[in-house]
Amino acid sequence: MPRSVLELFNEIKLKTGSAQIANWIVSEAIGRPYFQALSEDLTADDGSVSRALEYSRRLEEGEPIQYVLGRWSFRDLELVVDHRALIPRPETEVVVEVALQCLKKRRVDHPRILELGTGSGAPAIALATEIPGAYVLGTDLSVDALSLARANLRLYSDRISGHMELIQADWFRAIDPDEQPLIDSGEFDLIFSNPPYIGQDDYDLLEPLVRDWEPRSALLSGERGTEQLETILRWAPRYLAQSGCLVLEMDPAQVGPVVDFAQNIGYECEVFCDLAERKRGLVAKLLYDDLRTGGDPAVALQQLFDN
Ligand SMILES: C[S@@+](CC[C@H](N)C(=O)[O-])C[C@H]1O[C@@H](n2cnc3c(N)ncnc32)[C@H](O)[C@@H]1O
Repeated sequence: MPRSVLELFNEIKLKTGSAQIANWIVSEAIGRPYFQALSEDLTADDGSVSRALEYSRRLEEGEPIQYVLGRWSFRDLELVVDHRALIPRPETEVVVEVALQCLKKRRVDHPRILELGTGSGAPAIALATEIPGAYVLGTDLSVDALSLARANLRLYSDRISGHMELIQADWFRAIDPDEQPLIDSGEFDLIFSNPPYIGQDDYDLLEPLVRDWEPRSALLSGERGTEQLETILRWAPRYLAQSGCLVLEMDPAQVGPVVDFAQNIGYECEVFCDLAERKRGLVAKLLYDDLRTGGDPAVALQQLFDN
């Protein structure tokens, strides 16, 4: 039954217990900002009412608001989000800022950037739109995530003054060998990753809002949680340009052990914090350019000291 937008808002607020969520849901259902519709004293038609009730039913079932709305903001982007990929987090917005600062210091005109595990494409598209002339390659192992990232890339292609590509890869190894040169040929000024970093025990204890709805492959790293971070640190030297930097996001508790791991294989590390002042990741640079050999960095470091 049609009702005023205000009545619909009050109904959804009662169901969800939140004016903010009711605002989001009603705005999405009526296809325009709620407060604007309110000031015009509009009526919500049947379609809008049933959409709003359906959204609130999905919320009641525990689905994250971001998936219910089907879009979410990341820096100055508004991206499509759904079960195909992780919901982009505010922490990662800060990691993108750190990456931008690294590139600024390097003063490269047309930086080449590799994002490993791009998910919805959020960090890669943010970097591509915020750095004029950048080349950005985003990779992911998940075909689902890549299809979502492609949809998001289409939304912003006119704001990308350089070039951006997306390919399926297992970290640095393209699944289609014809695409390998895209990773191999490049020396990247920046390698960025927010890889899965949750260990099995912590994964089992995750709140259902995350564990039951977001892709397991985007969250679970292995038994310990640092496995994927270590893999990336091991292989990145081959793909970094001279003085290039690797920016990694991780859990605050992992920062100490991951810095130790990185230093042992020849990186110097700078730790950065998120908006809540928790250690959130590191910027790693190779101590010696000779470490960019493509082999095992620990062996390369040993050889360097032996010579
Ligand atoms: C924590 S999510 C990050 C998504 C996105 N970059 C963000 O920050 O919102 C990790 C991503 O890594 C991808 N991934 C997991 N294992 C991978 C692998 N071996 N190679 C490439 N990507 C992988 C997952 O599919 C997922 O999209």
